[in-house]
Amino acid sequence: CRFFLDTADTAEWDGLLPRGLFHGVTTNPTLLARANQPCTVSNLHTLASKALSLTDEFMCQTWGSTADEMYKNGMEISDMDRDRIVIKVPVTAEGTKAATMLARSGVRICLTACYNSKQALIAASMGVEYIAPYLGRMNDNGKDGFKECVRMQNIVDGLGSDTRILVASIRDSETLGDLAVEGLDTFTFSPMVARELFDEPLTDAAADEFEIAASLGSVEFDLKP
Ligand code: E4P
Repeated sequence: CRFFLDTADTAEWDGLLPRGLFHGVTTNPTLLARANQPCTVSNLHTLASKALSLTDEFMCQTWGSTADEMYKNGMEISDMDRDRIVIKVPVTAEGTKAATMLARSGVRICLTACYNSKQALIAASMGVEYIAPYLGRMNDNGKDGFKECVRMQNIVDGLGSDTRILVASIRDSETLGDLAVEGLDTFTFSPMVARELFDEPLTDAAADEFEIAASLGSVEFDLKP
């Protein structure tokens, strides 16, 4: 499976990325604002170089009110490392036009802000690498986010498409397991959900017990009969 950490807060990167379970980092203009990070090409280059020193992929969102603007910003960001930067583009009419222009220039694409399963058909027919459904936000809007994500996976599997369903807006760690049981394998989630994954008091107690045993074992015993 493939996990991404969904934040632009670099203090969280420092704490969580060295644990080694994240393939990459995802951001968007909202997450940048929340972390008091300017949404500029030069700041995204600074963030990309840090993220790529800790993980394999940096996924960040382009912006603009027209396809041309989204294309220009996306090109400038990804010029820094075409292989390891993925550009997120909202799956709107203008966004898909920009994504097509970017893909033709060799840029890796994630369609984002996906709110229904039929948008997986857009991603599959365009041949983009990722599409990101917002599970929690679908629920907020009266849809069954879980069901829509499973249906998206069934659509790409049924079509034999290589597009990965990158489930976003996941609000608890139990949902990760539930989605994995249904065959979904690519997720982006917040530091809060990441910490929840490590929240198991019985594991902590077992680790403490090992430490006590190890300290006893460091005393030299005479093992001769
Ligand atoms: C993804 O790009 C979004 O930042 C994120 O998944 C939204 O999560 P939220 O709906 O919990 O804010």
